[in-house]
Amino acid sequence: MRSWAPVLLCSSVSTAALLRNVEIRTPERVPNGASNPVEHDFASFSLPFHFFPDYAGNKSHPNLFSRDIVNLFFEKTGAHPHIRVGGTSGDRTIYNASQTQSIVLSKEYDNGIPIEVTVGEVFFEGFDNFPGTPWTFQVNLANNKSNALENALTEAKIALSHIKENLVAFEIGNEPDLYPGDVRPSNYNTADYVKEWTHYANAISRHVLQGNPYGLDSWKLFQALTFVFKPDGFTTADAFKDGIDKTGHVKTVSQHQYAAGNQGWVRLQNSFMNHTAIAGNLTQYIPDMEATKAADPGIEFLLGETNSDYVNLGMNQVEGVFGSSLWLVDYLLYGMSLNISRFNLIQGTNFGYAGWVPVPYNGQDPQVRPPLYGQILVADVIGHHRDVQIAPVHLGRWDLSAYGVYQSGILSKYVVVNFDEWNSTTHYPRPSQRFEFHVPSGVHAAEAKRLTGPGASSTSDISWGGISWNWTADGRLGQHGAENAERLHIQGKKLLLEVPSTQAVVIDLLRKK
Ligand SMILES: *[C@@H]1O[C@H](CO)[C@@H](O)[C@H](O)[C@H]1NC(C)=O
Ligand SMILES: *[C@@H]1O[C@H](CO)[C@@H](O)[C@H](O)[C@H]1NC(C)=O
Ligand SMILES: *[C@@H]1O[C@H](CO)[C@@H](O)[C@H](O)[C@H]1NC(C)=O
Ligand SMILES: *[C@@H]1O[C@H](CO)[C@@H](O)[C@H](O)[C@H]1NC(C)=O
Ligand SMILES: *[C@@H]1O[C@H](CO)[C@@H](O)[C@H](O)[C@H]1NC(C)=O
Ligand SMILES: *[C@@H]1O[C@H](CO)[C@@H](O)[C@H](O)[C@H]1NC(C)=O
Ligand SMILES: *[C@@H]1O[C@H](CO)[C@@H](O)[C@H](O)[C@H]1NC(C)=O
Ligand SMILES: *[C@@H]1O[C@H](CO)[C@@H](O)[C@H](O)[C@H]1NC(C)=O
Repeated sequence: MRSWAPVLLCSSVSTAALLRNVEIRTPERVPNGASNPVEHDFASFSLPFHFFPDYAGNKSHPNLFSRDIVNLFFEKTGAHPHIRVGGTSGDRTIYNASQTQSIVLSKEYDNGIPIEVTVGEVFFEGFDNFPGTPWTFQVNLANNKSNALENALTEAKIALSHIKENLVAFEIGNEPDLYPGDVRPSNYNTADYVKEWTHYANAISRHVLQGNPYGLDSWKLFQALTFVFKPDGFTTADAFKDGIDKTGHVKTVSQHQYAAGNQGWVRLQNSFMNHTAIAGNLTQYIPDMEATKAADPGIEFLLGETNSDYVNLGMNQVEGVFGSSLWLVDYLLYGMSLNISRFNLIQGTNFGYAGWVPVPYNGQDPQVRPPLYGQILVADVIGHHRDVQIAPVHLGRWDLSAYGVYQSGILSKYVVVNFDEWNSTTHYPRPSQRFEFHVPSGVHAAEAKRLTGPGASSTSDISWGGISWNWTADGRLGQHGAENAERLHIQGKKLLLEVPSTQAVVIDLLRKK
């Protein structure tokens, strides 16, 4: 174990608090209230229509960089990450059979979303770029032209012909809670939505799914709701009350969650590197989960489109930096601990929080960006073990976060995040927090892997367990660095570990076979 003590003794600022160890203790056997077994595709993706061709490519030019990234998650967890294709641009999309280009976009809204989108047959070749991937595909609902349903059916048919047995669900419309006063009259409510949604679901079941040769359930194959804004009166409970599942189409319920927009008050430390804010962003879904469970315990609840910023643009300096990879670690792990069954992290070529830029953009080559590291760490926390559960360790701290991870009911990992914001330019030495972990008696050794970066605002020199990833000139995902797992010293039933400010650590507890 590396010792940080000399640094602590000489630095005058912020060391007083460090003298007290933070104790991390969680039972050896999985406690009551721990999560359900975690889905191995928990840390998944969502792609908006207008950037789908960038991320996926087409038949003649498949995007192999994206394919490699998606496969990295498969290697780490044994499950192909799920990709949901949808969003506001998808809700506006018109299919044009005689269009030779993949996608044609009209002028953009201020948050970068095009107002009109037309796709041709080539667009759908993108689905072939990710073999084995489970998909959710969204059709339009916002569109209220006379041929809107026909357009939705056509797109669903073509998408199905590419996705085949890997189709997990169709979605109908996007964020209908934002329809009133925009694409629907201002008194549009959940009952109106349920009526329209059911009409589309019935039609897709009958005209697209019925008799499909892929073994897909032709009826219960829809992901419902996709509401985004909490205070607008569209609730999960109301949607069920109004009969969203009366016809039995609902397989999953998805809500969309963004931590913030690009408001002037958004900061790393106060907003993203803040466990209290992260927990609050997710516990607000408990009533939605309860309403879903009460309606039908077989319906899974997930966040099918989520990330840090609903405006997407203009906040690279807080969202595309190392501090945001720590946000993502805690956001995903906390969501897992609440039994949210999947997070589909939305990506866009020019989004401030994107995990990777798939094509040359703005004079720069494609690249891996810091947030991807948070998602990779979480994939490693899940790993290949078939029965993984997680329990938060409640520290009562906004600046620290900790979890116990269980395999077949036995404590097997600890995760800690130190959110104290520190930059390479900060004028005092990097502080460190010492943790004292309780180690169950069957554990004979322990290893730590760190998610490190030069500081919260860094965009380079980030590594996870010694490894860094980036685009390579042959268009693939490259990996460099040497894998680095530190052997930790167990003393009695304890081990001590220093975690510098702005770092996350995963400890593997090793038992004799
Ligand atoms: C998650 O599900 C498990 C198993 O059903 C349950 O014991 C636990 O209380 C749930 N967690 C939350 C936060 O509801
Ligand atoms: C469909 O695409 C063709 C070929 O680009 C174009 O000529 C035609 O105007 C398009 N139709 C519509 C309705 O946009
Ligand atoms: C496929 O993608 C490449 C690279 O983006 C593009 O140049 C080409 O025009 C696309 N092919 C079709 C048929 O759209
Ligand atoms: C149809 O959409 C337009 C704008 O897209 C909207 O103003 C109008 O209220 C909608 N009509 C109905 C009946 O939903
Ligand atoms: C952390 O987030 C909570 C909830 O949003 C907020 O009340 C608190 O002020 C934040 N802490 C800091 C240091 O900004
Ligand atoms: C979600 O997080 C943001 C900061 O990222 C915070 O301002 C907001 O209050 C949180 N929302 C809830 C409901 O806790
Ligand atoms: C880190 O750097 C960013 C950007 O320069 C700055 O906004 C922030 O205040 C710095 N934080 C600390 C703790 O120095
Ligand atoms: C990743 O590669 C791209 C393209 O070569 C480069 O612009 C970027 O700086 C690299 N990122 C890091 C963190 O090294």
